[in-house]
Amino acid sequence: MNSAHIEADVGAIADTVLLPGDPLRARSVAHELLDAPVEVTARRNMLGYTGRWRGIPVSVMGGGMGIPSTAIYATELARVYGVRRIVRIGTCGGIGEVQVGDVLLAQSGSTDSRFNRVQFGEHDLAACADFRLLRAAVDAAVALDLDARVAHVFSTDRFYSGDAALIDHLRRHRISGVEMETAGLYGLAMRENVQALAVLAVSDHLETGASMPAAERELGLARIARLALAAVETARIA
Ligand code: HPA
Repeated sequence: MNSAHIEADVGAIADTVLLPGDPLRARSVAHELLDAPVEVTARRNMLGYTGRWRGIPVSVMGGGMGIPSTAIYATELARVYGVRRIVRIGTCGGIGEVQVGDVLLAQSGSTDSRFNRVQFGEHDLAACADFRLLRAAVDAAVALDLDARVAHVFSTDRFYSGDAALIDHLRRHRISGVEMETAGLYGLAMRENVQALAVLAVSDHLETGASMPAAERELGLARIARLALAAVETARIA
């Protein structure tokens, strides 16, 4: 048996999944960091792999861009494959005092998407990270001597909004990163009883215009993938 958008057999995906947006990033994380990675799904070219990290079964799979795509994969992972832990790894735009290259551990996800509202009787959901995973990521960052800050992020449906007033609102509310998935993933994880966390590298700064060169972007992503794996290991033994 498999699901509508994932062709892996049930049982072929680990209970812990790293979820980058880009399927090619899933492939490179699997090949560079996991032991014995096996491709388990490629439907719509949304590649997914299962391997081991220090003996722990871990899968890594692309989730696409934006809340709708991420939610399709996360929902099927939770409901059909019994996944219990999803760590998004990705990039975000920075706001305020964060710098390009900084690593953010997203404590909360605000959003302009209606996705959580529709599921929550038109009320405002406080879409939050799983505390145990967040704490494990903080501990893992200390152990790896990696500067990571716990931060609030905003998930937008509009990559090209050019909305200066929005940036002002975000800065006033001490929101440090803008991306397109975390709030939806967190809301969904709360409903599906899945632990979720987003580990994000600041790839560009929305106020200064600074941006990370492509080569550094790859290194940055490898760094956060390692941090996510270390967090998963810590969370499992905590
Ligand atoms: N906006 C939305 N998503 C992003 C950005 C951004 O500036 N940077 C990286 N992902």
